[in-house]
Order: sequence, then structure tokens, then C-alpha cells
Amino acid sequence: MNILIIGCGSIGTVITKAADKMQSIEKILLYDIDSTRADQLLSISRKAEMLSSLDLEKIDVSIGIEAAGQKAAKEYVPTILENGIDAMVMSVGAFVDRDFQQRCYKAVEAKGRLVLIPSGAVAGVDALRSASKAKIDVVKLTSTKPPKGLSGVKYLQEKGIKVEELKERTILYSGPAGQAVQLFPANVNVAATVSLAGIGFDSTQVDVVCDPATKVNSHHLYAKGEFGELEATTRNLPSPDNPKTSYLASLSAVSTLISYVSKIWTGV
Ligand SMILES: NC(=O)c1ccc[n+]([C@@H]2O[C@H](COP(=O)([O-])OP(=O)(O)OC[C@H]3O[C@@H](n4cnc5c(N)ncnc54)[C@H](O)[C@@H]3O)[C@@H](O)[C@H]2O)c1
Repeated sequence: MNILIIGCGSIGTVITKAADKMQSIEKILLYDIDSTRADQLLSISRKAEMLSSLDLEKIDVSIGIEAAGQKAAKEYVPTILENGIDAMVMSVGAFVDRDFQQRCYKAVEAKGRLVLIPSGAVAGVDALRSASKAKIDVVKLTSTKPPKGLSGVKYLQEKGIKVEELKERTILYSGPAGQAVQLFPANVNVAATVSLAGIGFDSTQVDVVCDPATKVNSHHLYAKGEFGELEATTRNLPSPDNPKTSYLASLSAVSTLISYVSKIWTGV
């Protein structure tokens, strides 16, 4: 099988290294808007080939993996599916856009393809997904990050908040997941994953917290409903080359790819 990876940054690199070792993967096609990023991966992979442009009608791959950002997800994921290719989406926040969501789901139906959304950087999504098949009263996610994990957020800049200067734990946002995902597009994909697995973008509550005393990206998921109560906490080490991305997110993409390739899914 051949695979396509769009985005050769932190997550794309971990997936490429893992895919290189997977026997049933023959070719790894790499595409990055910054060709130097894709080029760097050629030296560490025996199977990788770099694409200078992305013509989804012409390439022969089973799955396209988006690890590039919400804008890229919106640009490529529907077209991937419409071209009869399965899609794995890491920039899950893109699904808050109803048009994008509808176009993907229509293509899934029309072409019989799969959309794979890895659990990413958060634990408890498996149980939440099962629990949501009965009534759920509350889903609350608290994402706490060090200042580096929240740098460059336009919404904070507009509010004049300098996370690097915060001296104590500060709640930067408290409200529905849909808005959190739009205000922190590169920081709280987990809020989108939790929403899709549970009770949706409007009913899921999210707190985004900056804590200058922490070095980990932590996510606390709480849910209560007919199933009982769920609490899950993850304390993720950030990727060395992208402090906004937790290493666990890259590993969840690898684990999803292994399940996809082997056709054996555990914990679903
Ligand atoms: N689901 C989760 O839990 C989770 C966790 C962490 C990160 N993410 C998301 O996954 C995505 C990738 O994360 P990362 O840490 O690897 O990012 P990164 O910044 O390290 O790498 C992204 C790469 O994509 C490339 N890129 C950007 N726009 C592109 C486009 N239009 N076409 C092709 N390439 C493009 C960039 O040049 C860069 O090399 C981000 O959107 C991030 O928010 C999701």
C-alpha cells in the first residue's frame, strides 16, 4: 500500500519514521508547502518520495494523512475523499466548520471511504464515545499548557495578553468547545476530538489555561451521564521541535495507521 502525508513537521516526521518500518507500506508520498521540510525527511526514509505539487487525481495512495493545519485540512481532506482515498485528519478543529464537515461526510457516503480521527493528545475519548450512546449531562475539558504552548495565538494578542509574562496559573478561555477551537486553532484540537466523540461543539465545555509553572501539556476530561462518571488526565511532553504539539498526538497517528494497515482495531 502507498500512503500520502501532507505536512512534514513534527507529526509528519514521526509518522514517516514509523511508516518506513511497516512492511505493508511500499511508498510514502510526502507533500509540504515548504519543500525543505519534505526534503529533510527523504534522508531518513527509504520509502519516501517528495511531491512538488499535489494532484490528488493522479496519485495512487490508499490513505491521505493530513498533519499540516486547519487551512490545509479544509483545502485537501474533502478532495482526498472525493477522489476515493481514505483520510486521516490531525487538524481536527477543521470539523467545527459545518460546510467542511458536510462535504467530508457526503464524500464518505458517496465514495465509501473512511475518515480516521485519532484520539490525539487526549485520553478518555474511547470511553466518551461509548458513553455518548446513552444520555450524557456534562462534558468538560480543561487544557493546561506552559506559555510556550500558547505563544503566537492571535486571539490573545488582540486581547493584549502576553502569556510569557504571566506569573501564575490563568484561565484564558472558558466556554463552548466550538469557540475554543476557533480561538486557539493550533492549540486545542483535543477539544474538537472530544466534541466529535461526545456531545458536540456547543455542549462540550472547555477551559484553556496557561500555567507558567508547568512543562507539560495536560488535559483533564470529565464527563457524567447515564453510564456513570469519567475522569481522565494526560500529562503530555511537548514535541521537541513544536512545543504546541504533544508527542502523544504523533503516537496516536502512528497507532491509527498501524490499525488501518493491519485491519485490527483495539479499544474502539
Ligand atoms: N489531534 C490532536 O490531538 C493534535 C495534537 C497536536 C497537533 N495537532 C495538529 O496537527 C497539525 C500538525 O501538527 P505539527 O505539530 O506536525 O505541526 P508543524 O507545524 O510541526 O508541521 C506542519 C507542517 O505542515 C506544513 N504545511 C502548512 N500548511 C500546509 C499546506 N497548506 N500544505 C502542505 N503543507 C503545509 C508546514 O510547512 C509544516 O511543515 C496541526 O494542525 C496541529 O494543530 C493535532
